[in-house]
Amino acid sequence: MFSSRVPPVLRRNRLTEAIATRRAAGQPVLDLTLSNPTHAGFDYPPDLLSPLSDARALSYDPQPFGSLDARRAVSHEYARQGLDVTPDRIVLTASTSDAYSLLFKLLANPDDEVLVPRPSYPLFDHLIALEGIRAHQYNLEYHGAWTIDFDSVERALTNRTRVVLVVCPNNPTGSFLSHADLERLAAACAARRVAIVADEVFADYELEPGAAAAAGRVSTRGDVLSFALGGLSKSAGLPQVKLGWIAVSGPDAVVSAALDRLELICDTYLSVSTPVQVAAPELIGRGAAVRSQIAERVGTNYRWLASKTAATSCTCLRAEGGWYGVLRVPSIEPEEDAVVGLVTNDGVLTHPGYFFDFLHESFVVVSLLPQETAFRDGVTRVIRHFDCTSQATVPSRDHIE
Ligand SMILES: Cc1ncc(COP(=O)(O)O)c(C=O)c1O
Repeated sequence: MFSSRVPPVLRRNRLTEAIATRRAAGQPVLDLTLSNPTHAGFDYPPDLLSPLSDARALSYDPQPFGSLDARRAVSHEYARQGLDVTPDRIVLTASTSDAYSLLFKLLANPDDEVLVPRPSYPLFDHLIALEGIRAHQYNLEYHGAWTIDFDSVERALTNRTRVVLVVCPNNPTGSFLSHADLERLAAACAARRVAIVADEVFADYELEPGAAAAAGRVSTRGDVLSFALGGLSKSAGLPQVKLGWIAVSGPDAVVSAALDRLELICDTYLSVSTPVQVAAPELIGRGAAVRSQIAERVGTNYRWLASKTAATSCTCLRAEGGWYGVLRVPSIEPEEDAVVGLVTNDGVLTHPGYFFDFLHESFVVVSLLPQETAFRDGVTRVIRHFDCTSQATVPSRDHIE
């Protein structure tokens, strides 16, 4: 009765069971996977969303790409980041997920392929499967910084590849796309008439000063059809408002052909509500107040994480931006056992590396959004867990001798 776009079995996994069991026993779980900024103790001005009640929204004037005023405001957002994107190349969406869905409809036929970075955003599996297309993975490799493994890109490309996804900065590795990697990727994609979709939702959040300005951005490219994705969900900490956008770039003729087709797709859904479009210029401006708080929080937590883990069995990998920290942890137990044990015995919830498809074990991913006290408490428990487990499991040198 049901399509194979949705998995046939929807079961709770061991981690979800462990959380439910602990909560049912009345024991708290300290959540280091928190990714909802509206639940992270930021100071949202109470009237922040008042532009949504603007009376101009009482009139419905549907436009496939969204109102020109709202698209101008997005264009100014790009200017704030030092990028020149004109409003006629901006398309409003209800979210980044909505943007992916529109773009996959534009670019891929059923059973066509999309190249997805590994490790990366777990939702890609569903976003791709729900469009009836297929994911092929290419690897990011870490050597003090994350870069694209181009051999794996070449291996993954086939004559059915339509899109290469990049996430900049990536969730969870925190790596921006370097100019050199973008240059190579653009050449590979342009030669095969494959489009690039760059998810830049975290572009405002650099953990290393200067990392954002030094990153390669697809909207500067005139040689390959590219789509940059952004939105208020991260840039203003307002996921509930449901406003995202796509910035289209590339050779003029291809951009124009893409926009013609995208117009038909967007016209079919008209997914961005009128109140959100009317409010967009104000909300984008007001979002700066929340963005600065988030940037301060994730920066403080990341620096603390890096220094606190320095002399422990957990290694904090270098992150240039974003909302996540990656810990390489001792592989003394399967990753799943480790994160389940952290919930059951230490009362702290983390993401296992396999959730993001790390190439090998063992990694634990923590969100940098929680309030400082909770974050430090949770990370201290994680470090203690791995320090104690490794001491208990690995015989000391003295013992061996
Ligand atoms: C890489 C990435 N893209 C997009 C999103 C979600 O954006 P939206 O709320 O606009 O769908 C997330 C959320 O965590 C994300 O990590």
